[in-house]
Amino acid sequence: MKQRSRPRRNRMNSSMRALIQETSLSVNDLIAPLFVMEGENEKVEITSMPGQFRYSLDLLLKKIKELDNLGVNCVSLFPALDDKLKDSCATESMNPDGLFQRTIKEVKSLCPNMLVMTDVALDPYSSDGHDGLVNPKTGEILNDETLEILAGMAVNQANAGADIIGPSDMMDGRIGYIRDALDGENHKNVSIMSYTAKYCSAFYGPFRDALESAPKSGDKKTYQMNPGNIDEALRELKLDEAEGADIVMVKPGLPYLDVIKVMSQNTTLPIATYNVSGEYAMIKAAAEKGWLDCESTMFEVLSSFKRAGASMILTYFTEEAARALNS
Ligand code: PBG
Repeated sequence: MKQRSRPRRNRMNSSMRALIQETSLSVNDLIAPLFVMEGENEKVEITSMPGQFRYSLDLLLKKIKELDNLGVNCVSLFPALDDKLKDSCATESMNPDGLFQRTIKEVKSLCPNMLVMTDVALDPYSSDGHDGLVNPKTGEILNDETLEILAGMAVNQANAGADIIGPSDMMDGRIGYIRDALDGENHKNVSIMSYTAKYCSAFYGPFRDALESAPKSGDKKTYQMNPGNIDEALRELKLDEAEGADIVMVKPGLPYLDVIKVMSQNTTLPIATYNVSGEYAMIKAAAEKGWLDCESTMFEVLSSFKRAGASMILTYFTEEAARALNS
């Protein structure tokens, strides 16, 4: 038998494999989502996310300093607020001295080079647990009425020192509306990373446990995308490009690698993906049972995002991966 092509020649030893490798993962690609709460010297583990905590601000700062020393460039922050601060209009999100704003200021003064990314949506502040305003009579999520609150929230975060604003709410027209509001307040250098293709996903469950932010009634299907759709992601992409997004995101990551791929073929903007809470939880749970090896599964999953076309990954594995990459 004459066998001229032998693909296995390129896999012969580790040096050859390294030479041939098409994509690689570095600490530069990783963004750490972190949860902050009121209190002092306190941290509460999130039951469904082993190794992830809600931190009081002092302990959050310590964690961020550690991440900084590991070479991590960016954190994405989420506030866990007391129920009594929540109302139907998300009023607390506009409070310049609120927990979230104080957190951003302190992080930036401790680690000026650490990029602070925020989440823009009503849910952590909303007594309804929805990302937009709810019409109390019909239950409809009001689009245009929500934009003003989102823009106010974004400006408040930028005033506190946020570098990258991350609208995760999926209201129509929010990117342009927020861009105009930021520019109007002289925040022209503050970036927007749009949650462009955010699917209505069961994988957000553990995150909603962490923030106690699950919708009080109904679901998020009138604003988050139907998991069956991919052309629709390209329509969202075109809108976000036209409205001035700097980075576009696909969320969740693992079940939507095809969406990352098709977006990367249709834009020159950088693509982010969010390896969400449920994706983390399922690997951790299987690893705890001894059914999967955590580290190699983690690296295989994180590399798949790079291979699909993402240039940055929001992942709860950031610290674990950074430690392994540095050692
Ligand atoms: C809220 C928001 C959610 C996540 C990030 N921002 C939850 C939701 O839309 O209900 C989920 C992240 C995760 O699961 O890790 N706007």
